[in-house]
Amino acid sequence: MNESAIFYPPGPDDSRRIAELYQMAAGGVADYVWSGMAEPGESVLDVGARRFVRTGEDFSFQNCVVAAREEGIVGMIHAFPMTERTEVDDDFDPVLRPYAELEHVPSLYIAGIAVDPECRGQGIGETLLTSCAVYHPDVDLADQSLIAFEENEGSVRLYHRLGFRVFDRRPVVPHELIQYSGDALLMVRAI
Ligand SMILES: CC(C)(COP(=O)(O)OP(=O)(O)OC[C@H]1O[C@@H](n2cnc3c(N)ncnc32)[C@H](O)[C@@H]1OP(=O)(O)O)[C@@H](O)C(=O)NCCC(=O)NCCS
Repeated sequence: MNESAIFYPPGPDDSRRIAELYQMAAGGVADYVWSGMAEPGESVLDVGARRFVRTGEDFSFQNCVVAAREEGIVGMIHAFPMTERTEVDDDFDPVLRPYAELEHVPSLYIAGIAVDPECRGQGIGETLLTSCAVYHPDVDLADQSLIAFEENEGSVRLYHRLGFRVFDRRPVVPHELIQYSGDALLMVRAI
């Protein structure tokens, strides 16, 4: 199990590590979004780090919980209250459209969860998923939601085990940066 990991809210200095783990969680969607935001000379991870270092935004270190061992941060979960639906009009980016259409409003949206490959299968992911609501005690939401790639079978199995159920699905729109095909699944559980 995860006896040797500690779980805590990170600080701004952890933003780059959070971005690395978020990138791991997102199956290429973060690479797609961040590469479109990069300024000249900026790497995709630079963009991720500058997004997570902000305060008062959905994409902020403030909405993360991390797991750490002696060697440093080995896991993270990023979740925020989703209270307004993204408007998806005809001009909406086609690669991102499936994920916008799968928003479950209102819910505590788990935007990303990842654990270092060497530390997987030891209960850290389960603890992050179980503890994340603890860090949003002020938010009165009935559901947690997340989007998973159906091809990412291990993560979908974990979510099922923790009570998430498939609520809706959309085909992934192929792009060279997106690592999965098949369907993206909206999974929901009651808090
Ligand atoms: C999904 C993930 C966060 C789970 O974290 P974890 O610490 O390994 O999870 P736990 O140890 O609490 O639970 C293990 C479960 O995770 C799942 N799992 C997924 N990938 C795994 C891996 N590479 N090794 C071990 N378990 C994995 C299994 O279903 C396993 O359950 P099982 O033992 O019943 O088969 C982690 O595997 C990960 O970071 N994967 C890459 C990023 C990712 O895909 N994120 C999810 C995006 S939707």
